Amino acid sequence: MPMAQGDAGVSASALEALLQRHGRDPHALLQLLRELQAEHGWLPRATLAQVAAALGLTPAQVEGVAGFYRFLHTQPVGRYRILFSDNITDRMLGSEALMADLCRRLGVAPGRVSDDGRVSVARTSCTGLCDQGPALLINHHAVVTRLDAARVAQLAGLVRGGVPVAQWPAEWFEVQDQVRRADVLLAEPPAPGAALSAALARGIPGMLSEMKLSNLRGRGGAGFATGLKWSLCRQAQGSEHVVVCNADEGEPGTFKDRVLLTRHADAVLEGMTIAAWLIGARRGFVYLRGEYRYLLERLEAVLQRRRDAGLLGTAILGRAGFDFDVRIHVGAGAYVCGEESSLIESLEGRRGTPRIRPPFPVQSGYLGQPTIVNNVETFCAAVHIALQGGAWWASIGTPKSAGTKIHSVSGDCERPGLYEYPFGTRIGRILEDCGARDTQAVQVGGPSGLCLSAFEFGRRIAFEDVPTAGAFMVFDRSRDMFEVARCFAHFFAHESCGFCTPCRVGTALVVKRMDKLAAGHGSRHDIDVLFELDKLMHGATHCGLGATACNPLRDTIAKFRPAYERHLKSLYFEPGFDLDAELSIARHLTGRDDPGAHLERLS
Ligand SMILES: Cc1cc2nc3c(=O)[nH]c(=O)nc-3n(C[C@H](O)[C@H](O)[C@H](O)COP(=O)(O)O)c2cc1C
Ligand code: SF4
Repeated sequence: MPMAQGDAGVSASALEALLQRHGRDPHALLQLLRELQAEHGWLPRATLAQVAAALGLTPAQVEGVAGFYRFLHTQPVGRYRILFSDNITDRMLGSEALMADLCRRLGVAPGRVSDDGRVSVARTSCTGLCDQGPALLINHHAVVTRLDAARVAQLAGLVRGGVPVAQWPAEWFEVQDQVRRADVLLAEPPAPGAALSAALARGIPGMLSEMKLSNLRGRGGAGFATGLKWSLCRQAQGSEHVVVCNADEGEPGTFKDRVLLTRHADAVLEGMTIAAWLIGARRGFVYLRGEYRYLLERLEAVLQRRRDAGLLGTAILGRAGFDFDVRIHVGAGAYVCGEESSLIESLEGRRGTPRIRPPFPVQSGYLGQPTIVNNVETFCAAVHIALQGGAWWASIGTPKSAGTKIHSVSGDCERPGLYEYPFGTRIGRILEDCGARDTQAVQVGGPSGLCLSAFEFGRRIAFEDVPTAGAFMVFDRSRDMFEVARCFAHFFAHESCGFCTPCRVGTALVVKRMDKLAAGHGSRHDIDVLFELDKLMHGATHCGLGATACNPLRDTIAKFRPAYERHLKSLYFEPGFDLDAELSIARHLTGRDDPGAHLERLS
């Protein structure tokens, strides 16, 4: 447990030790602040001023960074800092009631610190444990999964008794991989070094053309052609080239990268090493989201094993001049840092504000040098392409979506976990395999993706049809799709970095309207305003966060309109109006399960 710290700052010797560990590099500012906080609990102004002086930065620069990241605290927090994961899937599993119960037992209000400074309890965006929630983070270092009433009661007792987290029951911290269907990437991993040797044997032009032949498209969401990205970076001029693995995985409902980093870390790092060889990079970073901090020691151990085996470091596999090593940079609770240019800003020790593009990272990325940023799964795929060739990968899937895709399945189904399929697989097939029943909707690709209704379960996962970065959240007919959309609206407003007005104000206005509807004070006009906000934000925001923030609203209003209508104050609820009766007539008349259009006519 971190030590409580007064406002006076840290001791000079403690700070000096940290500065030395980071080579007094101002670009390591975020790591330094994280580590200082881990030691001392929070970051008083005096500490920030000491850091600024030591790194040659202004106090405003350092305070600006400390103020940006939600996992950094410039005010005192509890010695036990508890953050409940707040994805819709956690809520569906009862997280709200469990949090209220814990707060009651500990005598602390949500979002506040207890009077004795012992504990604070608050919410945080999805922690990537949707298949084993409800979950919480404790002291930004450990996760507790599968919360229930008994566990919460016991946890309250341990906190009250001052028992260190390290002495809590070990099974609470168990994170299961839950691989339900493996194809290529989740199958038995290749021996470390095998893919790298295969790539070296193909030669640089040969391996690059295999990458292009494979038609591999990035798995982080946008689906950019990986071979093309790597070629462009190789051609770009710079004093060095850099490889970055995007392990920020902040999209609610996504947890595939967590499992790949746990079970297939060698493959991820090997993919990065192949990329480094192709583009001529000596430096690599894994940007690990703060919520996955508990994986850090394991990943460091894999890195060391690979150095010892000659798979990282100097003269890799005995090749003079093939030098490459990887550092892990731990994030601090900011979804926007998954966007590649924000991620690079964060790697450089700054606030995670998205950059203006162009120039793109392949031309000017980390410290202005040509940089590739790729998703964890993309690097894993490159390993298999090195081993089996581009034509083989291209032969799997559909013409525009080659290979397999991993889905993080959660929500209303019997068997949540990871499912890997070739592209082109029907939504309905995944629902059957995971044991979903009476399904009303699936949110594919997370809140910024698509919400599909039962009419669309014949559609296929593919860039040509339903693209996805990997989340697959299932909602049965007992769920209120308005509440699902409202939860996502809160997520985007919470995660907006505030840099551009359309997103900062737009996401707040969306939340206001949704909350008004939820409170039963809304009217049709509010729904019209939501449509307007969607249009406005789509074209006017600075980055993809704002552009996609209204996706869940647009989809749910169009496909689950009655869920919204139920919340309208006056539209249908004149005396004598029976919404359920109207819905059943509408179903009968239209033969459809979402008779929103009929109700529209009624109004
Ligand atoms: C708000 C936002 C969040 C993002 N989060 C992630 C993320 O967590 N992981 C990821 O790989 N890509 C994320 N991306 C996409 C990245 O910007 C980038 O396209 C991706 O890392 C490129 O890798 P790929 O070519 O392998 O897909 C995000 C984009 C936006 C706009
Ligand atoms: S769209 Fe939102 S997250 Fe992106 S830069 Fe603007 S305010 Fe920040």
